[in-house]
Amino acid sequence: MKTRTALLLFVLIIAATQFAGAQSSGNAVVDQLLTAWSPKNFTTEPVTDQQVDMILKCGIKAPSGKNNQPWRFTVVRDEATMKEMIGNIVPGNVLILVSGLESETGKTPDFDCGLATENMFIAATSLGLGARIYGGPAGAANEKREALQVPAGYKIIVILRVGNIDKSVDAVSGASSRKAQEEIVNYKK
Ligand SMILES: Cc1cc2nc3c(=O)[nH]c(=O)nc-3n(C[C@H](O)[C@H](O)[C@H](O)COP(=O)(O)O)c2cc1C
Repeated sequence: MKTRTALLLFVLIIAATQFAGAQSSGNAVVDQLLTAWSPKNFTTEPVTDQQVDMILKCGIKAPSGKNNQPWRFTVVRDEATMKEMIGNIVPGNVLILVSGLESETGKTPDFDCGLATENMFIAATSLGLGARIYGGPAGAANEKREALQVPAGYKIIVILRVGNIDKSVDAVSGASSRKAQEEIVNYKK
C-alpha cells in the first residue's frame, strides 16, 4: 500500500512539474511562443485552404529590411511533389516554399525570409496545426525550382511544412530542450 501511495505521489509531482512548465503567462501570444514546437509526425486530416490563407497573410505581414519584402511563397499540396522534398509526408500536409530574391546583394533576404517563416510557423501553431521548418531539403528543391514554379530570380531558403497533429502530444514533451537562459544572456555591467 505504501509503495502505491509513494508511486501515486511521484506521478502527481511529475504531472505538476509538467503543468508548471506549460503554465499560462496570461498573454496568448507569449503563451504561443513559449509552447510552440516542431512535430515530425502528422495526421492525414487535411489543412484547409482558409488555414493556408491565414498563415500566408501572417507571413506577408512580417517586417523586412527597408520593407523590401524580398520573398515569394509557393504553396505545394500535391502529395507526390511534396514527397520528393520530404520523405515522410502524409496526405493533407501542405508545404510552403519560402524563397528570397537572389539579387539583393548587401540586403537581407535570408533574414527577412526567416522572419516571414517564423510568423507563419507561429500562425500555424496558433491555429492548432503543427508546423516544421526544413532547411536541408531546400538545396535539392532549388535544383527543381522551375518545375516547382518558384518565380524566376528567387531561391528557396526554407520549406515550411504544415499539417494536423495528434493533439494528445503536449508541447512540453514534444519540444526539444533549449540552452539555459544564463548560458545565452549576459547583461553588460
Ligand atoms: C532554419 C531551420 C532549418 C531547419 N531544418 C530542418 C531540417 O532540415 N530537417 C528537420 O527535420 N528539421 C529542421 N528544422 C527544425 C529544427 O530541428 C527544430 O526547429 C528544432 O529542433 C527545435 O525543435 P522544437 O521547436 O520542437 O523545440 C529546422 C529549423 C530551422 C529554424
